[in-house]
Amino acid sequence: MHRTCLCVFLLVSSTSAFAQHDPGPDRGSPRAGTNGSPSTGDPLSNLTSGESTAFSSGKLTFQEVDSVTGKLSAGSGLGPRFNMDSCSGCHAFPAIGGSSPPANPQIAVATRAGARNTVPSFLSLSGPVREVRFVKTPTGAADGGVHDLFTITGRSDAVGCNVAQPNFAAEVAANNAVFRIPTPLFGSGLIEAIDDATIMDNKAANATQKAALGIAGHENRNGNDGSLTRFGWKAQNKSLFIFAGEAYNVEQGVTNDVFPNERDSTAGCLFNPTPEDHIDVNGGTRFRPTTTPSDIIDFVFFMRFLAPPARGPSTSSSGNGEDLFTSTGCALCHTPSLKTSGSVTAALSNKDANLFSDLLVHNMGSGLADGISQGFAAGNEFRTAPLWGLGQRLFFLHDGRTSDLTVVVAAHASPGSEANGVIAKFNALTAQQKQDLLQFLRSL
Ligand code: HEC
Ligand code: HEC
Repeated sequence: MHRTCLCVFLLVSSTSAFAQHDPGPDRGSPRAGTNGSPSTGDPLSNLTSGESTAFSSGKLTFQEVDSVTGKLSAGSGLGPRFNMDSCSGCHAFPAIGGSSPPANPQIAVATRAGARNTVPSFLSLSGPVREVRFVKTPTGAADGGVHDLFTITGRSDAVGCNVAQPNFAAEVAANNAVFRIPTPLFGSGLIEAIDDATIMDNKAANATQKAALGIAGHENRNGNDGSLTRFGWKAQNKSLFIFAGEAYNVEQGVTNDVFPNERDSTAGCLFNPTPEDHIDVNGGTRFRPTTTPSDIIDFVFFMRFLAPPARGPSTSSSGNGEDLFTSTGCALCHTPSLKTSGSVTAALSNKDANLFSDLLVHNMGSGLADGISQGFAAGNEFRTAPLWGLGQRLFFLHDGRTSDLTVVVAAHASPGSEANGVIAKFNALTAQQKQDLLQFLRSL
């Protein structure tokens, strides 16, 4: 939530005090687009001026750092529990809107402004940004929800609040804690603009080949209207709007018009009336450097108009690898392209979204299973991860367990996995062919 207009100068000064980590020159800068296409992190080309303005405004709010009351930063509403204090802290690399940066900013936020959090064992400075879910509640019932890592206890802007972090050491020891890393947001407007029938037609395509290799897969659906859901590691969320509202509340603790209630309402820890971010029908009294009526709407337009990531140059090796990606069967799940439908945004209308995903969930076997079911996705099922932008990512798989693409491919195979047939074919390739396939992945 934006503070009142008194804070203009604080906004400037707080920017440096709460600056996010610089990825550093050794990791390279976002890939440049070729032939006039956008670079990674840029808006879609051919936006109208209104759309461009909404993108730029949204990008500012996406980087806004939230403190509890807004005295310490441009934004307010943080906590009582949170995982990070800005969207761009987690969606950071290789450009704003991406995934985990090389230096995990959660280490610094744990003790920012006097907070007294212990950094759990599964976070490290050189490891991925992570959030945690618990498989079961203490009584053994299904849990599955996100348990925030940090609290505002001890912060100078949260005097009187005293809540404890969950006992992560005990949950880890009991094998009850499972992790997720941020998914990159580049091209997410295109993903949103693919209609349900396109996803279902693609599911039905190549049926003989899929059946021969043991590939099934199914869509995830919204329990209320039955329409397809598609965002998140289990394709559990329907739209960027819902995801933005949910993320603002679950990751930062900022209540909003979509998720209006605090997740923890312990007395002494509530410093703002709810929803903290809201469309202000009384109009005009709040400082807002942006054009839309609330933060979550800003987030939607930043994400919706964010161009897909720029492809790297292709070589003869990556070209061979692209053919092998299809002939080995990777492309039966990682569908190279799906077409968007007619959209009010011309830049999103009837376009090829080269996402390398069927947007379906597949049984990935016991080795990847996390035991969390969401909607119609079971504990061993995940959305085929979109592979666009892969060559500029640092951490892979839903829990960020590896940075090594050979480990990623091997992890597709385990008891029960629908990818076992394809991975057997991959393993039978020559060393040169495997190398070519990896070169193709790195070019994405
Ligand atoms: C603590 C780190 C963190 C912060 C802060 C964060 N996210 Fe995320 N984001 C994640 C993780 C982890 C996922 C994957 C969640 C899942 O599937 O369970 C994700 C996924 C998403 C997705 C789904 C994209 C896709 O294609 O699947 C959207 C949209 C998103 N976040 C938007 C936001 C917005 C908007 C904000 C700020 C309000 C935000 N996030 C803040 C970690 C974060
Ligand atoms: C049965 C469907 C299926 C097949 C076949 C398949 N994948 Fe995947 N792939 C997935 C799913 C689902 C995930 C996400 C798994 C997870 O995170 O736990 C994934 C993840 C990945 C990732 C990591 C992406 C990320 O965001 O971290 C890469 C790289 C990848 N696959 C490459 C391949 C290659 C190369 C092949 C062929 C050798 C292949 N896949 C075959 C379904 C499939």
